[in-house]
Amino acid sequence: MTKQSEHFNTAAETWDSEETIYRTSIFAAAIKKHLSDHKINNLLDFGCGTGLLTEYFLESSSSLTGIDTSVGMLEKFNRRFQKQAHVKSLAINLEDASMSESYDVIMSSMAFHHLKDPKKVLELFKKHLAPNGKIFIIDLDEEDGTFHPDNKGMGVEHFGFSQKEFQTWANELGFKKFSYEIVFEMNKNHRSYGIGLAIFEDSK
Ligand SMILES: C[S@@+](CC[C@H](N)C(=O)[O-])C[C@H]1O[C@@H](n2cnc3c(N)ncnc32)[C@H](O)[C@@H]1O
Repeated sequence: MTKQSEHFNTAAETWDSEETIYRTSIFAAAIKKHLSDHKINNLLDFGCGTGLLTEYFLESSSSLTGIDTSVGMLEKFNRRFQKQAHVKSLAINLEDASMSESYDVIMSSMAFHHLKDPKKVLELFKKHLAPNGKIFIIDLDEEDGTFHPDNKGMGVEHFGFSQKEFQTWANELGFKKFSYEIVFEMNKNHRSYGIGLAIFEDSK
């Protein structure tokens, strides 16, 4: 087991704190602002954790998939949605595995900074984006490495991402539309860390 999996298996126990639940409600609202009222056919929540964000899309999606590498997180996810037949989870690491389905909405919250090669995963998402689909990546704005108390032990590969970095990926991967906004300010260590929402689209 990697140090990161160990960390998230333990973190799963206390993940659904008041603070995380609150910040997730802001993330969900920020994403929904960019979606129409049409039912989402197939939705993917990458790095879904316990399913806090997924839950906001239960009614508006016909099929939902959560992907995560942490067994502890997925146990909570599966328990949360045990009565919802249209929700499933996959315990896979997308840095090594491939995907078989296409999705209309692909979203991810606070997982991208744990990836060794996030641009490669974004490229995989692009290949599996249904026509007129949208990709929503929520993550820390570029920070100085002080956000996590133990970067190595917590599997942190990137100290957030700047708008410029996301924009460069969008250009290099050939997305037709890209936008970025800071959607939340998180107070920690007597300072504030921005959390941004990057949106990638393939159609104009
Ligand atoms: C900071 S947590 C965020 C969880 C959830 N999205 C939320 O906002 O509450 C990051 C999640 O990403 C997952 N993760 C990290 N690397 C991953 C990978 N390569 N493939 C799938 N999941 C991964 C972790 O196991 C963890 O559950």
